[in-house]
Amino acid sequence: MRINTLRCWIESGDKMTGIIEELEERRKRARAGGGERRTEAQHGKGKLTARERLDLLLDEGSFEEWDMFVEHRCHDFGMEDNTIPGDGVVTGFGRINGRTVFVFSQDFTVLGGSLSETHAEKICKVMDQAIKNGVPVIGLNDSGGARIQEGVASLGGYAEVFQRNATASGVVPQISVVMGPCAGGAVYSPAITDFIFMVEGSSYMYVTGPDVVKTVTHETVTHDELGGAATHTKTSGVAHKSYDNDVAALMGVRALMAYLPQSNREMAPRLETRDIADRPAPALDRIIPSNPNAPYDMAEVISHIVDEDSFFEIHPDFAANIITGFAHIDGRSVAIIANQPMVLAGCLDINASRKAARFVRFADAFNIPILTLVDVPGFMPGTAQENGGIINHGAKLLYAYAEATVPKVTVITRKAYGGAYDVMASKHLRGDVNYAWPTAEIAVMGPEGAARIIFRKDAEDPDKLKERTEEYRQKFANPFIAAGRGYIDDVIMPRNSRRRIARAFAMLEDKELQNPWRKHDNLPL
Ligand code: HXC
Repeated sequence: MRINTLRCWIESGDKMTGIIEELEERRKRARAGGGERRTEAQHGKGKLTARERLDLLLDEGSFEEWDMFVEHRCHDFGMEDNTIPGDGVVTGFGRINGRTVFVFSQDFTVLGGSLSETHAEKICKVMDQAIKNGVPVIGLNDSGGARIQEGVASLGGYAEVFQRNATASGVVPQISVVMGPCAGGAVYSPAITDFIFMVEGSSYMYVTGPDVVKTVTHETVTHDELGGAATHTKTSGVAHKSYDNDVAALMGVRALMAYLPQSNREMAPRLETRDIADRPAPALDRIIPSNPNAPYDMAEVISHIVDEDSFFEIHPDFAANIITGFAHIDGRSVAIIANQPMVLAGCLDINASRKAARFVRFADAFNIPILTLVDVPGFMPGTAQENGGIINHGAKLLYAYAEATVPKVTVITRKAYGGAYDVMASKHLRGDVNYAWPTAEIAVMGPEGAARIIFRKDAEDPDKLKERTEEYRQKFANPFIAAGRGYIDDVIMPRNSRRRIARAFAMLEDKELQNPWRKHDNLPL
């Protein structure tokens, strides 16, 4: 009896060892991806592998992988002999600075990271869990697009991902890092997500590649010119930031996460800071030039107001006439929108309106308070802008501010003219705390333009025009008429801006405001 028990135990032990060996062997095969040769080719292009990227993105040892053994179900074109466990995408969850995130990382070494039905199912699984659990999703894209051998099954897979991108929008933050090819309809998944980061020289996004472009429009263009990082961060605005290499891009994502909540049900974490909220910033008293048309750098104003080194700019290379970015003020995460007088005098044009509107909507969706710094001479005039639909695009920004229910603090540093005054988080669009510096000029338009219209007869004579302009400036180009009506809550010294803003956000911490029920809004897309 005792001998039989012993034999059973030894046999089950042997069996277990065999099972563990098989598990390890299967894991090894999955981890090898497309094999040594393709991994070398990936490295040769200056790119990391899917797994190396996750190692860098996530806190050490925090990655929990799912679906490592999933294989495609395709039997056409000899695909039954071409299976690699994991099917070209590594999925699961892990942590960034201790907070959970769901991730997928496409493996270009496996069939070019192409998206099969099962590859899509793996992505959808983590997205479904992210939505259910209120956790951000980060996608690392490096793919030749739809798995050509699978035809419509692959297209269906894409649409399943798109559906989840749309469902997750405004529910959990979604971040895309484009780290290789992203072509055809594949681009629409990152496009729906909240932020797209790209890697210079190795990533590109386009709806149709250079060959199709050549056939249809006879243009000769390279991959990079058509859809590289510079194209999308500077010209199209499709991508929000670009980085020199994979490592920098992944560190960029880790940095961004510090400003975001896990979902729309939470606030962003408040950080410890040694930068005291009451710190005066005397340099701000001297920043506005005496010539009202001379520029100054709004980025410098921001740096004096926010917690030291905490500004994380979004879209730094696109529509630089408006600055957008996250920062911490007294440890609280805030979204900053600021006109930049150094570029196009800070006026609002189509691209600036689109850029800022989407940013405001992101902040509002995710409970991030909004700080608006205003120095805006108005909307950009001209046929190019009108033909391009500035009315529609400008309305997006107006709409975004008007619907936002998060705490809104606004400081007018200099110009707030015309419709742009209204748009930039004015009191009338439910601005909670609206301050102005003594240098603020709040009026329907600039003094000279106004004098030319209301004193048309005097406009011919330069001396009289000057006199009338000065008269208008004296009367309206100041903050006191608006303050006299309560549209401005106080005229503050620039040096005290940080203190006043920090106190305003602290006061607004428990703000409650809701828009009436509706199925969804109909913002002017
Ligand atoms: C299956 C693919 C693939 C794909 C690449 N591969 N793309 N396999 N389906 N879509 C495979 C290649 O056969 C090769 O396999 C390996 O991946 C690496 O590809 P290479 O061509 O050797 O790499 P490279 O020279 O770097 O070129 C990368 C590339 C090119 C530019 C992405 O592979 C390419 O043009 N692929 C096709 C892109 C495409 O047209 N996709 C469909 C887009 S339409 P081996 O075994 O040799 O390593 C689309 C519709 C989506 O995506 C619609 C959603 C609504």
